[in-house]
Amino acid sequence: MRLSLRFVLPLILILAAFAYGIVPLVDQLTFRWFVRDLDMRSALIVNTIQEPLQEQLAAGSKAKTAALFTKITQDERIFAIGYCATPQSMPLATRTLPAEIRCVDLTRWSVGVDHVLESAQGPLHVAVSPLVTEAAPEGKLVLVHDMSFIVRRSDETKRYVIYFFMGLAAVISLITVVIAQLSWRGWVAGMRALLRGEGLLRQPVAMPPAAEFRPIARDLQRLIREMESDVRSRDESQLNWSPDTLRTILHAELSGEDVIVVSNREPYIHQRRGERIEVQRPASGLVTALEPIMRACSGVWIAHGSGSADREVVDKHDRIAVPPEKTAYQLRRVWLSAEEEAGYYYGLANEGLWPLCHIAHVRPTFRSGDWAHYVAVNRKFAGAVIAEAKTKNPIVLVQDYHFALLPRMIRDELPDATVITFWHIPWPNPESFAICPWAEEIVAGLLGSSILGFHTQFHCNNFVDTVDRLLEARVDREAFTVSLAGKLTAVRRYPISIDWPPAAEMVGKPIEQCRAEIRQLNSLPAAHAIGVGVDRLDYTKGIMERFRAVERLLEMKPEWIGRFSFVQIAAPTRAGIDEYQNHEAQVRALATRINQRFSRTGPPPIVLKVEHHEPQQVYEYYRAAEFCFVSSLHDGMNLVAKEFVAARDDERGVLILSQFTGAARELPEALIVNPYDADQCAAALHLALTMEPSEQRDRMRLMRGLVAEFNVYRWAGRMLLDAAVMRRRGRLLGKSAATGLDG
Ligand code: G6P
Repeated sequence: MRLSLRFVLPLILILAAFAYGIVPLVDQLTFRWFVRDLDMRSALIVNTIQEPLQEQLAAGSKAKTAALFTKITQDERIFAIGYCATPQSMPLATRTLPAEIRCVDLTRWSVGVDHVLESAQGPLHVAVSPLVTEAAPEGKLVLVHDMSFIVRRSDETKRYVIYFFMGLAAVISLITVVIAQLSWRGWVAGMRALLRGEGLLRQPVAMPPAAEFRPIARDLQRLIREMESDVRSRDESQLNWSPDTLRTILHAELSGEDVIVVSNREPYIHQRRGERIEVQRPASGLVTALEPIMRACSGVWIAHGSGSADREVVDKHDRIAVPPEKTAYQLRRVWLSAEEEAGYYYGLANEGLWPLCHIAHVRPTFRSGDWAHYVAVNRKFAGAVIAEAKTKNPIVLVQDYHFALLPRMIRDELPDATVITFWHIPWPNPESFAICPWAEEIVAGLLGSSILGFHTQFHCNNFVDTVDRLLEARVDREAFTVSLAGKLTAVRRYPISIDWPPAAEMVGKPIEQCRAEIRQLNSLPAAHAIGVGVDRLDYTKGIMERFRAVERLLEMKPEWIGRFSFVQIAAPTRAGIDEYQNHEAQVRALATRINQRFSRTGPPPIVLKVEHHEPQQVYEYYRAAEFCFVSSLHDGMNLVAKEFVAARDDERGVLILSQFTGAARELPEALIVNPYDADQCAAALHLALTMEPSEQRDRMRLMRGLVAEFNVYRWAGRMLLDAAVMRRRGRLLGKSAATGLDG
């Protein structure tokens, strides 16, 4: 508005000054036109009446002349008319002839030149013309016109001119204001889009950047496009993603900047076993995926110190260098009280968010006390991130549903940090998510991230729909970004994967040896067929459904009774939660019932091993089995499926995979099943047990190709490359803002 006034006020003043100067000019001009009109009119009238008047004067008929004069003055503009025979005579005239006009004066007034006389009646136009007769060769006719109508018209004209200029000022002001507003908005919108990093890559707003900014916008657009295509082509052309590739990206693209990983579960747990301290590697897909990344990138991994001997082995900064066999990065432990762990980990995270996000038909439980702990623990981890950051713009990789609030907390303290958050579990639809009493806080917390990753596009869509439903945020479905309070978050699909090629120690033991040892270990005959399942003892994994499928197989194909066993490795998990205790009891009971039903003639059909297994042992099972059965009821990705594929360098073995896992979208060569359909699963088990080696090889080869190409280095590399682009874009736009381009 102020801007508009700055334009309009001077304009009005200029127009007023102009009008002030021009009105008298127009007045004079019109006056002159009117006088000229009267001159012509007078000449016309004189010409018209000349002849009859001469005749009457010659006839000496004064009465008739007077009557003619009266008739002529009936014209409302002719004020008076008179005739002087000589300068000395009295004029023969209408009574209205002003006294100032005397016959003697007429000789002084040059004939044919008109005069304007200011009389008591107002301005009069006087025209003197010769009217010669034989008797009066000096005769003169005087015609007086009333000029008051000219004054009236002149006033009117002045008024109109003033009105015209006022109107003109109003119209020009209005146009100026509109144009000023539009172009101002155009600049502001253009610059906002520029600073958001939009409008350069695409043109989301209808208005193009203001003309002044176009060259700069074009340069920026080109630069960013080049950067992005550079990154994309590097991603595409890079078929061998390895720790080295990741390191190169980190140093070349991110100039070796700090990498801080935050997760609840730590990669190494120190447990006290009497006199000894044992190092355990947890059963967590998240840890399995991230550990090789941290080995490659170094940096700091911040996690909950949950082991019984964890405190004993850390330094005074609560850090320990890991992996124990060859240290590569720092593990920074955060300590939680029993109450904090109960509220934040068992409560909000695992009784609330975990069932909320998985369609496994277990009701989520939300307690306000748990929420308070969740907020407090997120804050505690934010403090640890800030303490560990060596620069003001570290790269922070926040992991999973334990830390939904952490991204925003980090952003509040370190606005220049690049926060990449990865949600390892599914994201439900907006209706389901809205059940959570703190749904809005959780979504807003996550939107503190620069990049928010999910395994599948479906989960990205669900998240964006949830934002749309819950928050006043700007959602761009084309670019898949969400802007909340001016902060942009890219929502992206990054399917997680595993280390490839698998470490030598994982696949070092020959297949035949694994087959023999595993059978021996489980008291199974040498030629016994085995299938394997490897999971945490979690209700989302569909272990009950898996056992029912085995039971159904033995019902449908009794020839397998005594010739086949299914070995289930079930890592104890979250045992403090009732639902998990109940689930474990149900799993055990079901295995017992099935075994009682079918094991009279030989080994039990189900071998349930509820205990912790180190990764290397798990790989031996993978290598020993005819098939691996992943029957999750709902799973973000499921890395067991990919691990099984990685373990089978003999290109044998069959993967049976639930259609409700993220992995099913990447591994269609598996036997894809609905775990709720026992008959279908039983048929898949039979098919797996009888599949020709050549078909096994064909399927396995394709799956191994995919996992090799899309390994975990690519997963992390793509996120880091995207982060690098965002950082550079941020710097560029920061520069343009600093040069005053932010309007
Ligand atoms: C899932 C979660 C991880 C978690 C893992 C093991 O994979 O996404 O965040 O670490 O389960 O669960 P736990 O509760 O033992 O860490």
